[in-house]
Amino acid sequence: MAKKKEVNKESEKKEQTNQSSKNADEEKTVLDIEDLPFVGPATAEKLRDAGYYSIEAIAVASPSELSAAAEIGESTAMKIISAARKLANVGGFETGDVVYERRKKVGKITTGSNSLNDLLGGGVETQAITELFGEFGSGKTQICHQLAVNVQLPREQGGLNGAVVVIDTEGTFRPERIIQMAEAKGLDPDKALKNIYVAQAYNSNHQMLLVDNAKELANKLKKDGINVRLLIVDSLTAHFRAEYVGRGTLADRQQKLNKHLHDLLRFGEVFNAAIVVTNQVMAKPDQFFGDPTKPVGGHIVAHTATFRIYLRKSKGELRVARLIDSPHLPESEAIFRVTERGIEDK
Ligand SMILES: Nc1ncnc2c1ncn2[C@@H]1O[C@H](COP(=O)(O)OP(=O)(O)OP(=O)(O)O)[C@@H](O)[C@H]1O
Ligand SMILES: [Mg+2]
Repeated sequence: MAKKKEVNKESEKKEQTNQSSKNADEEKTVLDIEDLPFVGPATAEKLRDAGYYSIEAIAVASPSELSAAAEIGESTAMKIISAARKLANVGGFETGDVVYERRKKVGKITTGSNSLNDLLGGGVETQAITELFGEFGSGKTQICHQLAVNVQLPREQGGLNGAVVVIDTEGTFRPERIIQMAEAKGLDPDKALKNIYVAQAYNSNHQMLLVDNAKELANKLKKDGINVRLLIVDSLTAHFRAEYVGRGTLADRQQKLNKHLHDLLRFGEVFNAAIVVTNQVMAKPDQFFGDPTKPVGGHIVAHTATFRIYLRKSKGELRVARLIDSPHLPESEAIFRVTERGIEDK
């Protein structure tokens, strides 16, 4: 009986997959791990507890790992993994034209400052992770708030007519600030607030889980004609840094952070959304040039983030942004201001 149900589920899935590949404009539906054969609610819960939040994570797991995590036999684990690989298209190749089609849809969100936009090649890109890193007060959270407002603007004004998901780990989301910035942009502040979906992450595991919840939410909203075009994680690293102290746990932390970033990137690709994450660093007062700071997460974040912006405080309202190791943009600097109206040019 149960088996038959699964078979039906499988064929349903096939239909979905065929449909989405037929229609290139349709963005993919996000599947949950429960959509895999042999994964019922109890197994799903065990898998999530062990850190397997997505089909992609299962696709790259080993049968023995998965069997231990879900307390199932290795042959079942193997079947689950192979189904996950098919669904996640892991190890599959895409032709260049498919990649090109997706790249053509990349959108850009204005930061509010032309000079900062120029630094980024036009604004904050969708289908990419932009990391804002810098010391306290350097403007990371301010830029996040501004983007949460700006993404809602029409395209002519540098927005994407989109909604926003905010994963707030430090309790620094301020609706009052959104109201100020929305008014400055001529948006209805009530509507602007209603377009921002905020969740507090209580710890790093919860933070990771919230990406799954964000997928569910974004899928649901999409059915109502609302597109999530921006996902913010402020701060990406605070919980990880607090929870994983000492050398022994570092590898574990990096592995989780790596998974988290890939989940985020996947969200960005599926929903054609911009992913913006923040990362605090300690300023080293004895160094002024180069990259004097060590962001938390080090190389993992560096390799996954497409755009890394190092922010530092200057006089008064002024802030300096520097683009670090971008694959296709020159490393340069931009100066902008943080004012009551939000992010503005110097
Ligand atoms: N309403 C406002 N009007 C003008 N400037 C503001 C306003 N709100 C915040 N700021 C400016 O933004 C700064 C705070 O920046 P922000 O909160 O973005 O820092 P951060 O980089 O996120 O720091 P942290 O690492 O502590 O999270 C304040 O010091 C102030 O200069
Ligand atoms: Mg902040």
